[in-house]
Amino acid sequence: MTSPTRNPLRAGLHMPRTPDPCALVVFGATGDLTARKLVPALYNLARERLLPMGFSVVGFARRDWSDEQFRAAMKDGVSKFSREPLQDEIWESFARDLHYVSSDFADPAGYRRLGERLTKQDQAHGAGGNRLFYLATQPTAYAEIAQNLKEAELSRVADGSWTRLVVEKPFGRDLESARKLDRSLGAVFRERQIFRIDHYLGKETVQNIIVFRFGNGIFEPIWNRRYVDNVQVSVGETVGVEGRGGYYEESGALRDMVQNHLMQVLALVAMEPVASFTGDAVRDEKAKVFHAIMPIEDIAGSTVRAQYTAGAVLGEQVPGYRQEPGVAPDSRIETYVALKLTVENWRWAGVPFYLRVGKRLPKRATEVAITFKTPPLQLFRQMGSEGPTPNLLVLRIQPDEGISLRFGAKVPGTRSDVRPVNMDFRYGTSFGVEPPEAYERLLLDAMLGDSTLFTRWDGVEAAWELLTPVLDAWASGVSPLRFYEAGSWGPDEARTLMERDGREWHRM
Ligand SMILES: NC(=O)c1ccc[n+]([C@@H]2O[C@H](COP(=O)([O-])OP(=O)(O)OC[C@H]3O[C@@H](n4cnc5c(N)ncnc54)[C@H](OP(=O)(O)O)[C@@H]3O)[C@@H](O)[C@H]2O)c1
Repeated sequence: MTSPTRNPLRAGLHMPRTPDPCALVVFGATGDLTARKLVPALYNLARERLLPMGFSVVGFARRDWSDEQFRAAMKDGVSKFSREPLQDEIWESFARDLHYVSSDFADPAGYRRLGERLTKQDQAHGAGGNRLFYLATQPTAYAEIAQNLKEAELSRVADGSWTRLVVEKPFGRDLESARKLDRSLGAVFRERQIFRIDHYLGKETVQNIIVFRFGNGIFEPIWNRRYVDNVQVSVGETVGVEGRGGYYEESGALRDMVQNHLMQVLALVAMEPVASFTGDAVRDEKAKVFHAIMPIEDIAGSTVRAQYTAGAVLGEQVPGYRQEPGVAPDSRIETYVALKLTVENWRWAGVPFYLRVGKRLPKRATEVAITFKTPPLQLFRQMGSEGPTPNLLVLRIQPDEGISLRFGAKVPGTRSDVRPVNMDFRYGTSFGVEPPEAYERLLLDAMLGDSTLFTRWDGVEAAWELLTPVLDAWASGVSPLRFYEAGSWGPDEARTLMERDGREWHRM
């Protein structure tokens, strides 16, 4: 019997999961993200005793709040949004270490007060000067905050301590703005100190793509152009813009979802095996995938953009995108994108990767569907289909998390008829535990300094290099904006994109 080789480099998988004592400074602490995601995630980490001794939070925002007001607002957020119900005893002990500094991002005096507060906390908690700065603010404030941290000497790393910066999406709105932002942050922090969040990478099921591929022996040999016919990454949302019309008008589906989340999932599906599960090993392989994706030459033929009109979703009548609050009545922003990419490397040459994402679709679902090539000879009669039904592997990322494999099975009887059936794995029934929220894992990893699940600049830049020409072409009228009724599966042109290749979208 052979056993797997032991390799100390694989330590990433077995890292001790208790971070150093540290202070987390949240810029934008009175905002939606902090109350909805960040503090509930921290509370759950506290509940599971995963936060280090000597951990504290300092909220920083404009509102004139006291520590007590900040704690009350965060308690409200945890009551509403926490994965596990709030328990008073745990909350009281956690809330003692929540503090607040009120200041405009532009005011140097605010950063001085922040510095004094941090020094006091270092003394009280023995945090040793370790700081995690989290930018939970509008992206236009990122550069200013970083510069002010530098001027107040808060970005400086003292002996033996660490300083890190966590940046929310979006990272730029095109190649040029992303490069400008990178230069601004790079003037203050080194790349290894910058943790760019893509919360998809914090999802258990997204991480499971790596485990499924490289933690099993049987899939990797068929994970290539010899066996795979096409790969589809799909995100369906039933919601519209949920009151964030103003934000969406500046972004659209390509910037909001494709440039980051879908491209990251594609990279995990397509990348080569890694020698270790550590930050740069995984990110090096993902970067190679991004660089192997061919620039889209035929933008009109390979991309579809569309916007929803009024319709019914899950039995409820909903307005069209242009009728949403904060949206221009003649808006040309896309709420749906479908596109075809090719990864021209040894493994994937000739295999199309189709991506699609849309709002107001009939179902909420995120999945990767891998269709395999059919057998060379049709020996059996297929039931309910003209040709042999190909094997299909579906990685369901959310909801109904799981994996299913479709294969042909003999229909009972005296004839050799074949019908497709499914083998199905479901997280819920197999493990019976609630997976942690993406932000729990990501906050913990940032405190640990583990950057594996964060995006690196070269990957972000490569994704913008690929997609900025698409945005530019669309702006000049290439691939006209299409429309689809809310509650439908998107515009006809998305179906045509597949039909031209003799394929169809997997039904989610
Ligand atoms: N909300 C989400 O679920 C979500 C999900 C993924 C990513 N994100 C990203 O996370 C970031 C934050 O989003 P959000 O929804 O939390 O935004 P938000 O609710 O608008 O909050 C903005 C925060 O920034 C503060 N702020 C704004 N201008 C300021 C200034 N000049 N000086 C000091 N403080 C200032 C606000 O403080 P005051 O209100 O006290 O002025 C508030 O705390 C964005 O980049 C967004 O794209 C959000």
